[in-house]
Amino acid sequence: MKTARLRIRRGTADEPSRHEEFAVPFEDGATVLDALIWIRAQRDASLAMRYSCINANVCKECTIAVDGTVVYACTTRLVADRPMVLDPLPGKRQLRDLVTETRPPRERL
Ligand code: FES
Repeated sequence: MKTARLRIRRGTADEPSRHEEFAVPFEDGATVLDALIWIRAQRDASLAMRYSCINANVCKECTIAVDGTVVYACTTRLVADRPMVLDPLPGKRQLRDLVTETRPPRERL
């Protein structure tokens, strides 16, 4: 069993930026989404995230930034050799933690 260290952006856009680190046990092939689900179940149920299809890569709900690159959490593999920094989508309003406002502006009216 390996351990991933995830530094996850917490809070809302109205709060000072902060990252919280979680150590997550994993086996080869596990994804960032697997780790986020584990954190919610085992460490912090208040972690806000979005996903739907889990790993079919169909819904695109799990899109976040990992180490500054926009990726799908459900297809991005965990690594053990360095911390992974997780942020909400850049250029979108952060609602809480990894969840951003993704509805088109006309839909929000
Ligand atoms: S959870 Fe559906 S694409 Fe990632």
